[in-house]
Amino acid sequence: MFSSSSSYTSFFMILLAAFSLFPLARAQLNSTFYSLNCPNVSAIVNTAMQQALQSDPRIGASLIRLHFHDCFLQGCDGSILLDNNSNRSIQSEKDAAPNANSTRGFDVVDNIKTAVESSCPGVVSCADILALAAESAVSLAGGPSWNVLLGRRESTSANQALANTSIPAPFENLSNLTAKFNAMGLNVTDLVALSGKFLFLYFYFSKI
Ligand code: HEM
Ligand SMILES: *[C@@H]1O[C@H](CO)[C@@H](O)[C@H](O)[C@H]1NC(C)=O
Ligand SMILES: *[C@@H]1O[C@H](CO)[C@@H](O)[C@H](O)[C@H]1NC(C)=O
Ligand SMILES: *[C@@H]1O[C@H](CO)[C@@H](O)[C@H](O)[C@H]1NC(C)=O
Ligand SMILES: *[C@@H]1O[C@H](CO)[C@@H](O)[C@H](O)[C@H]1NC(C)=O
Ligand SMILES: *[C@@H]1O[C@H](CO)[C@@H](O)[C@H](O)[C@H]1NC(C)=O
Ligand SMILES: *[C@@H]1O[C@H](CO)[C@@H](O)[C@H](O)[C@H]1NC(C)=O
Ligand SMILES: *[C@@H]1O[C@H](CO)[C@@H](O)[C@H](O)[C@H]1NC(C)=O
Ligand SMILES: *[C@@H]1O[C@H](CO)[C@@H](O)[C@H](O)[C@H]1NC(C)=O
Repeated sequence: MFSSSSSYTSFFMILLAAFSLFPLARAQLNSTFYSLNCPNVSAIVNTAMQQALQSDPRIGASLIRLHFHDCFLQGCDGSILLDNNSNRSIQSEKDAAPNANSTRGFDVVDNIKTAVESSCPGVVSCADILALAAESAVSLAGGPSWNVLLGRRESTSANQALANTSIPAPFENLSNLTAKFNAMGLNVTDLVALSGKFLFLYFYFSKI
């Protein structure tokens, strides 16, 4: 690929240009983001998830899906949680086609947020709470656990139109699904692995 030193140099010039065009992409998340100001946040989320699962075994699946539907447009920024707000031109993503009448668990997110706020007010983003809740759901279902990368900033806007078109729909074919996953930096291996895992989790939580 790098047959001459000039193509080698231009490769790095393009990389450099790409990174300076997207300075936010350089801000790295890390798993110790709240270690000073909310060190116990994972345990708080985990306890709240355990409580929620006691009355609704399906809620773990629902929170995993909320995180997925939050992330698939403009990043994992909590935008799916925003309600209509005409002053801020927000048309809630909750009413987008892939979400209306099928996303659930917003009340549980509120409960988790309340528990987190009572320990560390004004510190943890709701975007990070969705990421933590999804991990907790997977691990409480007997799946793997991982250190959640943290430090997501909260969106101040929603994009219902983009939610309608970016989130994969159940009638889409492989080329369309592949394109939508590719747009998120995910490839066909990721698509197959995630599809298998969500089905497993869905059946697990639904106790089918
Ligand atoms: C590959 C493209 C995907 C399509 C077309 C798709 C579509 C759907 C549909 C139609 C439902 C049923 C919604 C309802 O209750 O009416 C569903 C549920 C669900 N999806 Fe997906 N999905 C996809 C990928 C994913 C991925 C990548 C994840 C997780 C990372 C995921 C997690 C879930 C979960 C956990 C549920 C059950 C939610 C609940 O019971 O509340 N899905 N999906
Ligand atoms: C994690 O990220 C935050 C924000 O970028 C930074 O202040 C902190 O030093 C990072 N921690 C580690 C261990 O890299
Ligand atoms: C952390 O949170 C858990 C769950 O809410 C609680 O049981 C535990 O006592 C907390 N630990 C500390 C050090 O605050
Ligand atoms: C947002 O506003 C629309 C139009 O008024 C309404 O149909 C919808 O139920 C509202 N959505 C939410 C989440 O409150
Ligand atoms: C959601 O369900 C309500 C009540 O059944 C229905 O009126 C509405 O059209 C549905 N919305 C969507 C987007 O399917
Ligand atoms: C998104 O799709 C829903 C359901 O089809 C539709 O009611 C709504 O108008 C769409 N929103 C936008 C902004 O296109
Ligand atoms: C695939 O995506 C194209 C372009 O967005 C769209 O026109 C088409 O309806 C999609 N096909 C299916 C099967 O959803
Ligand atoms: C998927 O649908 C798109 C548009 O709807 C079409 O152009 C494409 O050939 C289809 N791909 C497959 C694998 O069927
Ligand atoms: C997808 O990416 C992973 C690395 O992230 C790689 O191991 C895998 O082979 C890739 N799959 C395809 C179909 O390119």
